[in-house]
Amino acid sequence: MRFKSLIMAAIGTCLSVSAMAAPVTIKVSHVVAENTPKGQMAMKFKELVESRLPGKVEVKVFPNSQLFGDDNVLEAMLLGDVQLAAPSLSKFDNYTKKLQIFDLPFLFKDMAAVESFQNSDSGQKLLDSLEKKGLVGLGYLHNGLKQLSANAPIATPEDTSGKKFRIQTSDVLAAQFEAVDAVPVKKPFSEVFTLLQTKAIDGQENTWSNIYSKKFFEVQDYITESNHGLLDYLVVTSKEFWMTLDADTRKVVKTSLDEAIAHGNKIAAEKAESDKQAIIASGRTKVTALSDEERKAWVKVMKPVWKQFEKEIGADLIEAAEASNQ
Ligand code: SIN
Repeated sequence: MRFKSLIMAAIGTCLSVSAMAAPVTIKVSHVVAENTPKGQMAMKFKELVESRLPGKVEVKVFPNSQLFGDDNVLEAMLLGDVQLAAPSLSKFDNYTKKLQIFDLPFLFKDMAAVESFQNSDSGQKLLDSLEKKGLVGLGYLHNGLKQLSANAPIATPEDTSGKKFRIQTSDVLAAQFEAVDAVPVKKPFSEVFTLLQTKAIDGQENTWSNIYSKKFFEVQDYITESNHGLLDYLVVTSKEFWMTLDADTRKVVKTSLDEAIAHGNKIAAEKAESDKQAIIASGRTKVTALSDEERKAWVKVMKPVWKQFEKEIGADLIEAAEASNQ
């Protein structure tokens, strides 16, 4: 009798332990500040998932390169050390050449064209371009179009000659700066402010949101509103982690992520304007926009870069992206 009750007690303990199974932890790592489209997307994702799957899934967000930088986050993801990230589309060169399309200079005339291409069949197929590498593309997130900042005025392509510009780890971006006779320097985002402050480099390219939230405008005397390229993100996870979630959980996580991305995209559109205005109002830097004539000169020297990468990216894909401008 005593033996039977011991067995029953043991079974009861096992059942209650499994009912209280530890929640799945989703670590989200990113390199930007919290008050950015990506930072806000990550916080919204946490809020939605944790309210919809209480006790089952917990989300831990690590902003500002606290956990991983963009140079090592994908390796860490494949090792299972982080479950969600949204590196810029320019940081996937080692995993696929297809995403290089998003770095081609002057390809998209505005964010509506970007949105239209990303939502097209060709754009959606690109989400699967990392599958062979064990990564799952879960969606695109906007930041916006890039501007040029420097410690001297930049209006014509000749103004960049011999100047060092920090770029992300993308060969297209390197070719883009080489086309204007500048010196591209590949460096992690976390180092940009110090490189600019110490004048180890002369300038950089980034969105209004990143220039504002990371205070680059405080250490650059000039910003040229050039809108010459795109800085958007691919939200990724590892296939191994994704498949460990049961189908119902996966569905809720994906729906929450889609909603969080929509939230981030709305913030991206707002910040592109409000952060630009805040930078102008600060009086710390001089902001000038390219005139139509100046813009034509930039397009003329930078557009040949498309041909250089056409083989790797695919002429059809470039055509489809260009068509999104209509
Ligand atoms: C980011 O927005 O995630 C960083 C972009 C950069 O490296 O310039």
